[in-house]
Amino acid sequence: MASLDLLLWIAAGILLQVAVYLLIEFWRHWKAYQALRNVVAELDLAISDQAALELAKPAIASWRGYRAFRVKDKRLEDQAGQVCSFTLVPEDDKPLPPFLPGQFLTFQLEAPDAIGGIQSVIRCYSLSDAPQPDNYRISVKRAIAPVGSHVAGGISSNYLHDHVEVGSRLQVRAPAGHFHIDHSDAPVVLIGGGIGITPLLSMLSWSLAVQPGRDLWLFYGVRNRAELALQGQLQALAAQHPGFHLHLCLSNPQADDLDELRLGPVHVHHGRVGTALLRRLLPLKPYQFYICGPTPMLQSLVPALEEWGVPSGRIHFEAFGPASVPRKNSVSAAPGHGQQSDKPGAVLVTFAKSGQQASWGPGMGTLLDFAESLGIDVQSGCRAGGCGTCQTSIRSGEVVYTKAPDFDPEPGSCLLCVCIPKAALTLEA
Ligand SMILES: Cc1cc2nc3c(=O)[nH]c(=O)nc-3n(C[C@H](O)[C@H](O)[C@H](O)COP(=O)(O)OP(=O)(O)OC[C@H]3O[C@@H](n4cnc5c(N)ncnc54)[C@H](O)[C@@H]3O)c2cc1C
Ligand code: FES
Repeated sequence: MASLDLLLWIAAGILLQVAVYLLIEFWRHWKAYQALRNVVAELDLAISDQAALELAKPAIASWRGYRAFRVKDKRLEDQAGQVCSFTLVPEDDKPLPPFLPGQFLTFQLEAPDAIGGIQSVIRCYSLSDAPQPDNYRISVKRAIAPVGSHVAGGISSNYLHDHVEVGSRLQVRAPAGHFHIDHSDAPVVLIGGGIGITPLLSMLSWSLAVQPGRDLWLFYGVRNRAELALQGQLQALAAQHPGFHLHLCLSNPQADDLDELRLGPVHVHHGRVGTALLRRLLPLKPYQFYICGPTPMLQSLVPALEEWGVPSGRIHFEAFGPASVPRKNSVSAAPGHGQQSDKPGAVLVTFAKSGQQASWGPGMGTLLDFAESLGIDVQSGCRAGGCGTCQTSIRSGEVVYTKAPDFDPEPGSCLLCVCIPKAALTLEA
């Protein structure tokens, strides 16, 4: 055989061996991928079963209406001085019900108005620490007026920062909300933007204390180091728990921000939290994702995670106000509180107490917007289905929920801020 033929035979042999090796490797990966898919499916089932069990449990021992609390501690939590924590103890000294990490409190505050009087406002604030037997903590960011505008800064947050001191009395409703961490041992990715870190820090502190083996990642996005809130607590947790992966993402860092932060037990990135970063860093596992941040962050991140292949049931999120986030297989109807259906056309709405009747049509907003546009006095707080302030009895007719509310309305009533009419409707207001 000529030496050329021999070389060709050797090359063909090598190629054959490489092809067989690649085929075997592909087969192995395919089997591993199938196994992982099965684990994911089983895990989803286990978690939804558990979630169902949790929902079926009687509501946690709690109180109705408002309860008086005193401020026990007040401290600034960021270099910029824009985030302030308040530790609250009940005035009656009775034990506090535990809450589910991620839940929030609703406050009724008597804040000064522009003409020297007092205005009553209702606002929600997430609990920012793990459940404690004798106190609750919230962390509030000062809402500043939009740049270049002549409007005042946020009423409630500025009142809390400037007028509420240690010893001040606050009226507080019991912990509520459906955005809370599951109790399984599934790996978790927490993603917080700005002050959206608060419910995530509560989840994180609870999980590290109660579920020490759980795989936990936190991606916290802010513009620069001065805006990082509760950094001391985060870094202490990262130092104590090597299994907790703390990643800080600074979109607009100042001169030494990245170098200074890298001195601590954290991973620091220049840029926003996005799926490119998550795909690069996260080992392939069936994570539960919990996200809280500004609306644009949710609107980009949630669809991007779904696009990446994360099942919708494993993406949980909360916005601190009205926000619409497009979902792949959106099922936002709240069973028992109304029905999700095709958008209704014009519908006659009667407000019984105020004696007003008007035709509501698509584009006129929620029933709360509609009532306000008619000058009807309806109380509201979060305007996002969270606090229950706008709860109103339905005398007749049906409503449709535009998003599943966090607050469970009483039977026969609805939350005007997240409802539109489905058929001719008479409301108590
Ligand atoms: C479930 C939930 C949890 C929350 N958790 C937290 C938390 O942990 N920490 C936290 O800080 N916040 C949290 N929030 C947000 C919080 O409830 C308040 O919405 C926030 O503090 C702003 O309230 P405010 O009264 O200070 O501002 P508002 O008075 O409601 O004003 C909001 C903004 O609008 C501007 N504004 C006022 N008037 C006008 C106008 N005419 N035109 C244009 N702009 C105007 C103000 O300057 C301000 O920037 C949460 C919200 C929800 C729903
Ligand atoms: S205003 Fe809070 S639930 Fe409607």
